[in-house]
Amino acid sequence: MSTAKLILDGNECEMPIVEGTEGERAFDITSLRSQTKYITLDPGFANTGSCQSAITFIDGEKGILRYRGYDIEDLAASARFPEVSYLLIHNHLPDQSELTEWRRKLTLNSLIHESMLNFFDHFPPTSHPMSILTAMVSALPAFYPDMEDEDTNIIRLLAKAKSIAAVAYKKSIGEPIVYPRSDYSYMANFLRMMFATPAEPYEISEVIENALNLLLIVHADHEQNCSTSTVRMTGSSQASMYASISAGICALSGPLHGGANQAVLEMLERILEDGGDYKKYVELAKDRDSGFRLMGFGHRVYKNFDPRARILKKACDEVLKELGIEDPLLDIAKNLEEVALSDDFFVQRKLYPNVDFYSGIIYRALGIPTNMFTVMFALGRMPGWIAHWREMRQDPTNRIYRPRQIYIGETHRKFVPVWER
Ligand code: CMC
Repeated sequence: MSTAKLILDGNECEMPIVEGTEGERAFDITSLRSQTKYITLDPGFANTGSCQSAITFIDGEKGILRYRGYDIEDLAASARFPEVSYLLIHNHLPDQSELTEWRRKLTLNSLIHESMLNFFDHFPPTSHPMSILTAMVSALPAFYPDMEDEDTNIIRLLAKAKSIAAVAYKKSIGEPIVYPRSDYSYMANFLRMMFATPAEPYEISEVIENALNLLLIVHADHEQNCSTSTVRMTGSSQASMYASISAGICALSGPLHGGANQAVLEMLERILEDGGDYKKYVELAKDRDSGFRLMGFGHRVYKNFDPRARILKKACDEVLKELGIEDPLLDIAKNLEEVALSDDFFVQRKLYPNVDFYSGIIYRALGIPTNMFTVMFALGRMPGWIAHWREMRQDPTNRIYRPRQIYIGETHRKFVPVWER
């Protein structure tokens, strides 16, 4: 086993080198403190590996993203979301009978407990659907306390999350909810529950179903991102899968993470309302005092391009064309991208469009309202979160996540009672 040597205060300490299957290397600092009394400091964990994982591989320099060894481009081109979910969770592609059974269970578990439905009535109509999704996912074990085997819970979560999302939407617009059908697929059920009304049955469009399928696949996992790390951190205390994933949904909601897709659309709308002067907003993003960032730009890991953004940019053109939609926001987005990519500020900092830059324009073309965009991201990321939660729980070396800190507060002070101060 190769090791790294570190000399601190004249003392030499040795740490094992860990190498991944794609040649990524790390030195294992687990014994650093016991050997030297030092800890490592890495705000934002930009250079910290928190675990070893066999789920997703990213090479940020080359723009590579693979789920369980399969290129995202291949999966996006011809896989279906339930199949990709199965792959992430079970570490192999399903054969025909495994896939049929998986799909059957996903459909059969789509119903939401009737008593749980009552809860939706008590959220104000202005509630953000992400808040409702978080609350309802963490409440699921209360309605299904029988705690059957883990596989059943996984299916339940995947199947019911999309129903929760659709019911939250229906309640927010004051329409009666639509129950899932047992002869519909995951995607068709979701679309019907979102858009059918008692007056008009919803006709499932293949273009819309395929576009949604693609969007969910490109969001399905992304190794140790903020929400997945949150799921792992929460689950490391042996909290339930539902509790851990509910915490992950909260982490996803922020505008620097999953909330960026909503923020991108709001930014593009703001530019349009402001006369369409996108160059002004590029300048604004470069001005540190403005507090404004180009939403949908930049990524901690990708430093050349985000492969998901490439897939979605192409899909965006195709979907809008197939649906016969001309969206001025798409023109603004393309112009923004072009100007930013040739601007020194963005070039030097290696800032490129990320997955969220074009996703919102596609969701909008599919008729999905802006405040549901991050919920859609959550539905896509669900199998990734589940796979990570399960991998962590099955890892015998897993310990509770408990980072350290460098304390910078007051040193010891003697307490003086208030009447003596
Ligand atoms: N617009 C303008 N400047 C930016 C942007 C941006 N979108 N992103 C980063 N920068 C600048 C930043 O000001 C900093 O400049 P300097 O070195 O001069 O101080 C430099 O680039 C590095 O930025 P950082 O904030 O240190 O980078 P990070 O790795 O901590 O943050 C990020 C990554 C994605 C949070 C960030 O790029 C960002 O805020 N982007 C906008 C929000 C967004 O689109 N988020 C979605 C991420 S992809 C989907 C997901 O998985 O969540």
